[in-house]
Amino acid sequence: MSKARIVVDPQFTVAPVDRRLFGSFVEHMGRCVYTGIYEPEHPLADQDGFRKDVLALTGELGVSTIRYPGGNFVSNYRWEDGVGPKEQRPVRRDLAWRSIETNQFGIDEFVDWSRRAGVEPMVAVNLGTRGVAEAVDLLEYCNADAGTALADQRVANGHAEPHDVKLWCLGNEMDGPWQIGHKTAEEYGRLAQETGKAMKRLDPSIELVACGSSNSKMPTFGSWESTVLEHCYDVVDYISLHAYYEQHGDDVASYLASGVDMDRFIEAVAATADAVGARLQSRKRLRLSFDEWNVWFQGEFGGEDSLDWAVAPQIIENDFGVVDAVVVGGLLVSLLKHADRVGVACLAQLVNVIAPIRTEPGGRSWRQPIFAPFALTAEGAQGVVLQTAAEGPTIRTAEFGEIPTVDTVATWDQASGTTSVFAVNRSPEESVRLTIATQGLPAVRTATAVQMAVGGAGAAAGSDESAWSPRETAVELSDEGAAIELAPGSWTRVTLVA
Ligand code: AHR
Repeated sequence: MSKARIVVDPQFTVAPVDRRLFGSFVEHMGRCVYTGIYEPEHPLADQDGFRKDVLALTGELGVSTIRYPGGNFVSNYRWEDGVGPKEQRPVRRDLAWRSIETNQFGIDEFVDWSRRAGVEPMVAVNLGTRGVAEAVDLLEYCNADAGTALADQRVANGHAEPHDVKLWCLGNEMDGPWQIGHKTAEEYGRLAQETGKAMKRLDPSIELVACGSSNSKMPTFGSWESTVLEHCYDVVDYISLHAYYEQHGDDVASYLASGVDMDRFIEAVAATADAVGARLQSRKRLRLSFDEWNVWFQGEFGGEDSLDWAVAPQIIENDFGVVDAVVVGGLLVSLLKHADRVGVACLAQLVNVIAPIRTEPGGRSWRQPIFAPFALTAEGAQGVVLQTAAEGPTIRTAEFGEIPTVDTVATWDQASGTTSVFAVNRSPEESVRLTIATQGLPAVRTATAVQMAVGGAGAAAGSDESAWSPRETAVELSDEGAAIELAPGSWTRVTLVA
C-alpha cells in the first residue's frame, strides 16, 4: 500500500468557511419544483403545498443558499406570471425545456419555501428576452418597502415585509447558443453593467453575480469573462462558473479526478478576473460564484428538442451510484481549497433533476448517494479552511496526465476543537495509507471517520440507501496525529476532536 502524508496546521489558513459554499439550485425544470418541492395534493404537503418530506431532507442536506428560478428557464421567464391569485396566473410555454409552465409556484412561494427550509434565496433575473426594466421591477417587488406600485403589489399578495433577497444573478449562461436571448460578450457585458447599476441604485445592499462561461470548454472561455468584466467589473461582486462531470467510456480514473478540472477552472477564472481588475486599476478583488456544479450523465440527455410540452415532465432524473458520490466529494474538496476566492457554490439541482433528493409524485422521497458527501461536508466543514501541505503518490490519468493520487483539504473549528479532513483517493485500484500530522493543533483525543468507496458498493446504488451508506472506518491515533487507510476510489471524512 502506498503512503501519503499531510500536515494540518492552523497557520496555513485559507479563509473562513463561507456557508454559501453549500448552496443548491431549484429551477423550473422537469420535476424540481412541481412534484419536487411543491405538490399541494401530496399527503405530506403543508398548508402552502410544500412537501414536508422534501423540506426535512433539505434541512438534513445542510444547504445554505438556493438559486432560483433558473437556469436556462429564467431566460424566457416573466416573473409577473408567478405572482397574485393562483387561479388568475397564466399557463405558458417554457421554451428552455419545451415544457408547460403553470405558474402555480413563483417568487413569493419560493421565498416562503426558502424561509421554511431555513435557506437563503438567490434569485436570477431574465437578461435573455428581457432587460433593465423588468429586473428592477422584480427587485422592487421583492425588496422595497411599501409605498410604491410594485412593493404594494407584493403587500397585496400577502407579503407585507420585503423579501430582502441579497444575492442576485444577472441572467444565466448568456454565452450559450442554446440560451433563449443568447448574447455576445459585448452585448451581455453592457446589459449586465446597466442592469446592475440600476439594481444597486434601487437597493445598494444587494450582491450581484455576472455570468461567466457556461463551462470551461466553451470556445469563448476566457475571452468571454474578460470582455464581460471590462464592462461590469465595478458593479458586480461575483463572476459565475458552471461545470458538470461524467465518466467517459471506462475511464474511471479521470472521472474520479474531476476535481483537477475544477481546480484549474477556478484558478483560470480568478486569474482572468484579476487581470481585468489590474487593467482597470481597481482595488476590488472579485469573488467567484460556482453556482452550478454536479455530476450529470449528459451523454444520455436527448437535448431540448426531444422534449414535448408536458407539465413537470421527467427530465434528467439520473440515478447516481457510489462513484458519482466520490466525485461529488472530490469536487467539494476543490471548492473548499479555493474558499478564499469561491464565495458561493450551488449543487445543481436540489430535487429530481440530477439531484441528491428524489421524489415520486404522490409518493415517497429518498436520498441519492451524492447526498452523503454533501451533507457530511456541510456538517463537518466548520471554522476556517486549512491548506494541507501534502506529499504522496501520483497517478497517471488519460484526461489530466500525472496528478496526485490523494487530494485533501481540512477545516479547523477552534470553538469546538474539531478538525475535519476531507480526502479523496483517485486511484481505482490502490489503497493509500494517509498520515495526518496535526502540527500546531491541541492533542487529539478522539478520531472517527466515514468513507464511501467504489469497491465497497455497487456502481449503481439506486434508492436502497443501506447499499451505499458511508461506512465507519478505523482511524489510528499516533504521536504525530492520526492515520487511516483510504480505499481505492474513495471519499473520506476524518473527524479529530481535541
Ligand atoms: O442544471 C441544468 C441546466 O444546466 C441549467 O438550466 C443550465 O443553466 C445549465 O446548462
